Amino acid sequence: TRTPVNVTVTGAAGQIGYALLFRIASGHLLGPDVPVNLRLLEIPQGLKAAEGTAMELDDCAFPLLRGIEITDDPNVGFAGANVALLVGARPRTKGMERGDLLSANGGIFKPQGKAINDNAADDIKVLVVGNPANTNALIAQAAAPDVPAERFTAMTRLDHNRAISQLAAKTGAAVSDIKKLTIWGNHSATQYPDIFHAEIAGKNAAEVVADEAWLADTFIPTVAKRGAAIIEARGASSAASAANAAIDHVHTWVNGTAEGDWTSMGIPSDGSYGVPEGIISSFPVTTKDGKYEIVQGLDINEFSRARIDASVKELTEERDAVRELGLI
Ligand code: NAI
Repeated sequence: TRTPVNVTVTGAAGQIGYALLFRIASGHLLGPDVPVNLRLLEIPQGLKAAEGTAMELDDCAFPLLRGIEITDDPNVGFAGANVALLVGARPRTKGMERGDLLSANGGIFKPQGKAINDNAADDIKVLVVGNPANTNALIAQAAAPDVPAERFTAMTRLDHNRAISQLAAKTGAAVSDIKKLTIWGNHSATQYPDIFHAEIAGKNAAEVVADEAWLADTFIPTVAKRGAAIIEARGASSAASAANAAIDHVHTWVNGTAEGDWTSMGIPSDGSYGVPEGIISSFPVTTKDGKYEIVQGLDINEFSRARIDASVKELTEERDAVRELGLI
């Protein structure tokens, strides 16, 4: 029998945590034959609710769930962690400036990065979900100099999945017929969902759509503002779809992309496509054997170039801001 994989979830008592933990425990994160130990990391006020969730996890009698530990100490929460899902973050509240938001999150992600550095397993893989996800990932990474930089990733898979869904609805195609979609840049309103290299049942998606006005005025803003639309409709943020995307992100990272397809992940740039080295930006990536690679050689047209550059500019500004705050 396999040794259990240690999975740490921060913000475990939150909305996304509630949608995420049951799917991890039922085998959707890593695979149907991989046992897991769950570590739930919360702040003191969240511990009681996390205990309630743990009671429910017990009551599911999941065959793959070997143990649950609940803590408010990052050094305990990340001890021996093989996978860390950093979900808990400080949301932007009314009147908060970007600098305030970044420093509040620096107060979370810097110590968590250090705790990962000091306590996690050698093969640790980190996914940051909590916003601003790309820059929070950068902060955690900078605090973990002993962990290979590429192990720190940020989630743009929800944007990726949203874009596939919108494209399927527009063209009448099945979701499973859509391949090679790309989210570039930041997980924010500046993100760029790119269909110029995407395929719908083997045909070029931009040619199938053949409607640049729809692309610019409907598709891109719908994908970028979907989170706000969900809040407006549901009265609460997109927790289940975010949890689903976190599952997809890690599952793909660990188990690989399908032949003839790729996915989108926020990862440290190696300078590809003119994205400054080191910032955590979303790219098209293929994955295999637990490693990812940026898809190379794509032709970037003018329409795409301007949008990628705008999102990357926002990321470099966030990087400069956290540098100035001494967070990286
Ligand atoms: P929530 O407010 O329901 O839950 C957050 C939880 O994090 C709370 O239980 C809180 O106690 C906990 N927490 C706060 N600071 C912590 C710390 N230092 N250590 C451990 N836990 C801590 O929020 P929700 O809906 O679960 O969302 C979580 C984050 O995910 C938010 O930042 C949200 O913006 C982000 N998000 C990101 C998406 C993406 O695509 N990247 C999509 C949707 C949400």
